[in-house]
Parts: sequence; C-alpha cells; structure tokens
Amino acid sequence: MNYQVIIPAAGSGKRMGAGYNKLLMNLAGRPIILHTLDVFETDPNCSRIILVIHSADEPFFTEIKSRYTKIYIVYGGNERQYSVFNGLKAAEAEGIILVHDGARPFIRPETISRLVQSARECGAAIAAVPVKDTIKKVIDLEVIETVDRSSLWQVQTPQAFRFSVLESAHEQAQKEQYLGTDEASLVEKIGHTVKIVESDYDNIKLTTPEDLYFAEAIIKKRNR
Ligand code: CTP
Ligand code: MG
Repeated sequence: MNYQVIIPAAGSGKRMGAGYNKLLMNLAGRPIILHTLDVFETDPNCSRIILVIHSADEPFFTEIKSRYTKIYIVYGGNERQYSVFNGLKAAEAEGIILVHDGARPFIRPETISRLVQSARECGAAIAAVPVKDTIKKVIDLEVIETVDRSSLWQVQTPQAFRFSVLESAHEQAQKEQYLGTDEASLVEKIGHTVKIVESDYDNIKLTTPEDLYFAEAIIKKRNR
C-alpha cells in the first residue's frame, strides 16, 4: 500500500540547546535526521519523501540528498504547521500521506503500515501510546482533579491521512488562522474522525538533551 511522507525538519531545536538544528546532531555515529530518513527510504511502500528544511541547513541537506532516491526538498515556515503546509504543496494530490517528525528516528515499519491501512479505511489515523503516569489538573500549584487515565493517550507521529482530508484541514486552518500542535487537531476541527493506532514507547521525540541518553539506550537494545 503506497504512501508519501512529509518530514518536517525545519526547526531550530531550541530546547535541545545545541545552538544549531538538533536533527544534525550525532546519534550513534550519524546525524539524527538520517536515522529517520532511512526508515522511509528503505520502505518499499513509501513512494516519496518530502523533506522540509530551513535554508540555514541547506548545505548539509544538499550534501546528503544524493544518497537518497525519494527525497524532494522544500523550505519550511516559522511554525511547524506552516512547514507541513509547504510540504503538502509538493505532494502528489492523491492517496495516503503521512506526516512524521524528523526528530522521531525510532518509528517502526510495522506501525507505519498499520497507520496507512487505518487511514485508507477511515481517512485519518495517528500513532499514540496509553499514558503511563497519573495526570492531575492543576491551577496555581493546587490540584483541581485527578484525570481518569483510562481514556488518555499520548500522541506521536506518524499521522496518516487521505490526501484530501489533510488538504481540507490545512486550508481551513489557514483560513481561520488556527494554529494546532499536530495535524490531527486540524482534522478534528473540520469534524472528521481520527483513529488511534497503538504505537510503542520507543517512538520518542528527541526534544531535550536527556532524550539523547534514552536514544542511545534504544539503539543499544535494538542492536542486541
Ligand atoms: N519543525 C519544522 N518547522 C518548524 C518547527 C519545527 O519543520 N518551524 C520540525 C522540527 O524540525 C522537528 C518537528 O518539526 O522535526 C517537531 O518539532 P520540535 O520537536 O518542536 O523541533 P524544534 O522546533 O526544532 O525544537 P524546539 O521546539 O525545541 O525549538
Ligand atoms: Mg518546536
């Protein structure tokens, strides 16, 4: 089942604090973004990788592009949502399209294929894991209530959509100047159902420096 993927990689990695885009940082001997790109480059069902970059990182990406056959490079915007929207314009307007953060190198091919399947059936499907911790609602450092955890899921990427669904959602958000934190929130806004595909806890987003320790541990575990 073929699909295209948009990979937003145009952030600046402020919370990682490296002073440059975190995706170019080294993880087990290679830049983080190459770990992510390899998953899709080697997936025979992936027909196109739309890689969204910042112009400051162009020298790096021009250098690595020749090693990949599926990559189209486009420029990002100053919010993740705008980067994805730019990516969408470079996609073929048909079939299933995924959006996957460049900062999540541990996505499993098996999860990708379940997402593609679910998006084909329902139009929109997102990777997520059940919340493990007890979550409380707090105002001014005072607990208001303990939220029922059984219905809470922690959302990840990939998020998979029928192309027409993601396009309508983005166009509507643009019109209303709505800025969501993920693609699914835009799709929810247009009243479309979004399904969950249970992913795993390895699929972390590398956000702060300690995530690099977790990442090294995951790689070690997988190499065993
Ligand atoms: N991203 C993007 N365009 C932006 C902002 C983010 O393409 N304007 C990408 C990032 O490169 C990353 C993904 O979206 O792969 C998820 O964003 P995040 O983890 O927040 O990365 P950064 O925005 O780079 O980090 P920070 O928020 O700490 O600055
Ligand atoms: Mg960010």
